Amino acid sequence: MNVDLKTQYLGLNLPHPLVVGASPLVDSLDRVREIEDAGAAALIMHSLFEEQILMDELAEDSYVHGHEETFAEATSYFPASSTFALNPETYLERIRKIKEIVSMPVIGSLNGRTPSGWTDYASDIESAGADALELNLYFQPALHADHPAKIEEDAIKIVKSVCDRVQIPVAVKLSPYFTSLPHFVKQVAGAGAKGVVLFNRFYQPDIDIEELKTVPQLKLSESSELLLRLRWLAILKDQVSIDLSCSGGVHTPVDVIKAVMSGADSVQLVSCLLKNGAGYLSALRTQLLHWLEEHEYPSLQEMKGSMSYRNTPNPDAIERANYVKILTAAQIQDRFGPVKW
Ligand SMILES: Cc1cc2nc3c(=O)[nH]c(=O)nc-3n(C[C@H](O)[C@H](O)[C@H](O)COP(=O)(O)O)c2cc1C
Repeated sequence: MNVDLKTQYLGLNLPHPLVVGASPLVDSLDRVREIEDAGAAALIMHSLFEEQILMDELAEDSYVHGHEETFAEATSYFPASSTFALNPETYLERIRKIKEIVSMPVIGSLNGRTPSGWTDYASDIESAGADALELNLYFQPALHADHPAKIEEDAIKIVKSVCDRVQIPVAVKLSPYFTSLPHFVKQVAGAGAKGVVLFNRFYQPDIDIEELKTVPQLKLSESSELLLRLRWLAILKDQVSIDLSCSGGVHTPVDVIKAVMSGADSVQLVSCLLKNGAGYLSALRTQLLHWLEEHEYPSLQEMKGSMSYRNTPNPDAIERANYVKILTAAQIQDRFGPVKW
């Protein structure tokens, strides 16, 4: 049987749902070739960050107007320029170069948090040849003065400002921390986005108790992180008409199947490729295909959303009922053996 793995994401016709997520995997052109050879459906660039763009603009301004001291002070709040592999111009150049050497769709990535001029870069990314754009709204409100309604209002302004600047489709990469995620996603769609990416991972710093300092951490994900994504994919699938992409915790063919059953139109991979190499993508695709064949699905489309909130036989498992049930002593005993208190 020939199972059809095709999917549509952001108006792009993809041969299957496995997309390489935003990461430094694009920093080497050889790696990009490997990714294409492994059969990736699409490639997402690592992000061009708001901080990077502002720093570049400040540098140019200080050069033109001779404000070197102001520049030094202002940029002391930013990450060192060596943090970024590419500056905004070389980032655009990298998109052009990648487009020359691969035939899979290339998705640019802009990453920021304030409604300001950096969003102009959306049209530069489009002109450089990107087939779509991922807009990453990575922020963690930490001040009591951060009013929730204002935060969402600003985020929607950013989405609108980016969508208004480009013809290519835009997906918005979100965090799970919204009072009402479905409501917010509806607004994202209303502002012109064609998709959302669920979710950003937050890299929480640890504490060094001897040195009394915070220690930045980069840990690759594990499959357990997928559960949060599955829940929200399943809930959003029936309520919003924009595309859904799953990012975070996809490591095995079973993870891919769960994400698609929950409603994902595309499934992004980063940690599993950093661990296993680009070739792992083709192994995942083959195992996905075999599983669908064995279970007699004619197509991936047939499976998509089959475990969405509406389609799941026990929707209360996604709701409060499950939370209440799972916390009973009997459940704990079943799972961990006799309770010792
Ligand atoms: C080393 C590294 C660099 C990343 N850089 C970016 C980035 O530039 N922009 C972005 O939106 N996400 C970035 N991410 C997040 C990934 O795109 C992805 O959302 C996250 O790793 C979860 O997917 P995973 O479980 O497959 O790793 C990065 C992740 C890693 C591990």
